Amino acid sequence: MCGIIGRIGTGNSVPYIIKGLERLEYRGYDSAGVATMKNREIFRVRSIGKLNFLKEKLAEIKPEGELSIGHTRWATHGKPSTENSHPHMSFDGKFAIVHNGIIENAAFLKEKYFEGEEIFKTETDSEVIAHLLAKFYSGNIIGTIKKVTKMLEGSYALGIICKHFPSLLFCTANKSPLVAAMGENGGFIASDPGAIGEFCGEYITVRRCEIAMMSKTKLKVYDGNLRVTDKKNHPVITGGQEYSKGDFEHYMMYEMMQQPKAVEDTLSYLFNGENINGINLPNDYFKNKIKKVLFIACGSAYHVGAVGAILIEKLCRIDAAAIIASEFRYSSPVIDESTLAVFISQSGETADTLAALRKAREMGAKILSVVNVKSSAIDLESDNVLYTRAGKEVSVATTKVYSAQLTVIYALALHIAKCRESLCNDDLEKYKNELFSLPQKIEETINKTKRKTQELAKKIYKNNDIYYIGRQLSFAVSMEAALKMKEISYIHCESYAAGELKHGTISLIEDGTPVIAIAGSDNIFQKTMSNLSEVKARGAKTILITNEEQKEDGEIDEIIKVPTTLPEFFASLSVIPCQFLGYYTAYLRGCDIDKPKNLAKSVTVE
Ligand code: F6R
Repeated sequence: MCGIIGRIGTGNSVPYIIKGLERLEYRGYDSAGVATMKNREIFRVRSIGKLNFLKEKLAEIKPEGELSIGHTRWATHGKPSTENSHPHMSFDGKFAIVHNGIIENAAFLKEKYFEGEEIFKTETDSEVIAHLLAKFYSGNIIGTIKKVTKMLEGSYALGIICKHFPSLLFCTANKSPLVAAMGENGGFIASDPGAIGEFCGEYITVRRCEIAMMSKTKLKVYDGNLRVTDKKNHPVITGGQEYSKGDFEHYMMYEMMQQPKAVEDTLSYLFNGENINGINLPNDYFKNKIKKVLFIACGSAYHVGAVGAILIEKLCRIDAAAIIASEFRYSSPVIDESTLAVFISQSGETADTLAALRKAREMGAKILSVVNVKSSAIDLESDNVLYTRAGKEVSVATTKVYSAQLTVIYALALHIAKCRESLCNDDLEKYKNELFSLPQKIEETINKTKRKTQELAKKIYKNNDIYYIGRQLSFAVSMEAALKMKEISYIHCESYAAGELKHGTISLIEDGTPVIAIAGSDNIFQKTMSNLSEVKARGAKTILITNEEQKEDGEIDEIIKVPTTLPEFFASLSVIPCQFLGYYTAYLRGCDIDKPKNLAKSVTVE
């Protein structure tokens, strides 16, 4: 995680760095810092906490310089503190660096090259890079960067400035995203093109072993053999207005309200021809060759995969499973080209998901990805890409992209079912019609449940523990519901398969513990109701999220009803009140909803 930025150009660079950091704060907000060069001296300003604290310091100190680098941190090695904040300086003050990634052999390098030297000022894995640059500096800066980066194990995107080169900005990368661009206002580097979109129309990607060097007007990239190389330019897609939160107090609320549009836009993008837009595999693959579908992802995206696995089994009659990407990458899966591996990722940069994709590809699986951010690593490395058309999602807790991802999964399941003829035409038609009615029904769900969940939040926000329960697709939704609650409200909230509760966890139920059951009108509704009665008998406050057509039951303390839909699509509607409940509960507890503590929007470390 972490975000890096750099600029060399005429006039003060610091305002550019701040603008870029605002766009990169989604990558971490434990601390932020800037280093700027003036009169061949490097000057640093750093601050613990969100970017606003750094901005306050900068407004007071007013540093200036044409060459600057900046960083926003998500702590991996060393607690969030001013000392551990980037940029880091070399022992001789010649180099300043910003780093995104993890140097796995930092301890080894410290011991090997600096044993007994009292030069380390931080607990980070990054500082050693600055010291190594100073130690091995030979007068040939590109050669020195190459020599030092060859010693590093792990992942990095590095921005480097050196006192000897007051008009040059250097950067290099391995496994961490990094772009470089020339614009009217000079040269820029950043972890994400969106951070510099305001200043540059096009960018290049700095890949493994490459070193880029920028002056005010020129960008030169060296390959692994230090030969100057030509790079393809990509247009910067992100526009400034996408960061709007409308008239809402939080991005999260704005994004929840955008869900009908996110689903509608995704549907019109996917269904604009005979086949689903983005699937390049022949229909015959799905009809005759496919034997297994694996959904591989992290966090909420994994929860979408959990819905996907149940749907594929049910509608397409193929073995299917959802696997957490960080588990998949160290497992010994049995896969070959008859396996379709589906990677789901909003950012398209999640390190574990990307590594899992590379592993599945190596093992011969067919690769299909569901991504929201175009030109992200997962997008670029996938043979089949189904885009979610949800637009920029700023709030750390995903909502509209989760809904758009579910939409893609439904479309994929229907496509496979059609190819395999596992559903008759009438059923296919019925499911497709219902899928297209989802934007309207999500809108209705928002209107019906927003106020009700706001009231309900008042009754639960002081609780220390909350449980969500459900079966099958509703269990998959309950995992997402619990994550939405805990990540932004900091209340301990767990999700349980409803039938599993009595195998241990029920002992945690006390008087007034909220237990929220998600159960649509299907053949297992009554089973979940029995589980709700079991916790009610032990003092729980029982809450049910169900369909409109479901009969009220006196046993239940609170009921939230969503419009009626086919059981397969209940997930898309039932998740909406859960998102609102998480939001309002966090609101009442005074939490920082869009930037919950310890989190970041893009998880680019393992
Ligand atoms: C939770 C949330 C995370 C992400 C997860 C994967 O609200 O947003 O759990 O779903 O970090 O991120 P992506 O989708 O970018 O791979």
